[in-house]
Amino acid sequence: MPTTLDVVAILVAAGSGQRMGGVEKAFLPIGGIPLLCYSLSVVQASPLVQAAVVVVQGSSVKRAHSLVEERGFSKVAAVCPGGATRRDSVWAGLEAAPPSTWVLVHDAARPCLTEELIQRGLTAASGTGAAVAAIPVEDTIKEVGPGGAVQSTLDRSRLYTVQTPQVFAREVLRRAHQESPPGPSWDDAALLEALGWPVCVYPGDRRNVKVTVPEDLELVEALLSRRKGS
Ligand code: CTP
Ligand code: MG
Repeated sequence: MPTTLDVVAILVAAGSGQRMGGVEKAFLPIGGIPLLCYSLSVVQASPLVQAAVVVVQGSSVKRAHSLVEERGFSKVAAVCPGGATRRDSVWAGLEAAPPSTWVLVHDAARPCLTEELIQRGLTAASGTGAAVAAIPVEDTIKEVGPGGAVQSTLDRSRLYTVQTPQVFAREVLRRAHQESPPGPSWDDAALLEALGWPVCVYPGDRRNVKVTVPEDLELVEALLSRRKGS
């Protein structure tokens, strides 16, 4: 695991929450606290992360700045505007981040981040320079064609659902962003894969859910209220 002062977290929160009905999820209150603050608190408390960059929609930079100040998130080195795609937002975060050897990219839409996930990610990334949190798929997955016709059943034993944190040697991620062709909703790991860079998975956490649709809020609220009470 990297031990020097060399990890910057990039929290991407610049999406427009279309599946949530067009709301900026970063500012959705959960238990009275904006969603973004949960993962930011974990980063703030982590002895493994020295600085953070928060990427939000251009129109929300001021609002995010105020939040960071009000709540004393002193590790935040920059709040910057994101782009049209997640990839663009991560790139913006990379450009705004202070120099570091490693970057830990995390979706602010996953408020149940833990110190264990950060730790596991950094340990795993020290191998090839790229590691992503993932969990084995447990449901049977079918490929479905037009009209709802099942076409095939995939071999579940090799399938994983990928989460964040995704941890990278910064220079490798930078190069991947510069050199990879545009891809359909690719995460950062996919950019490296496209260049043939070895990416490994490390154990994610089933509770590290992404707030995507309104139903997810109920689950996340329950998970986070338990955490506060524990
Ligand atoms: N994200 C971002 N910039 C974008 C798109 C997404 O920073 N242009 C961030 C989101 O804010 C979120 C994470 O990437 O923290 C994962 O994206 P997703 O859950 O898809 O969020 P949204 O893009 O906001 O939601 P939707 O796809 O439903 O519009
Ligand atoms: Mg999206």
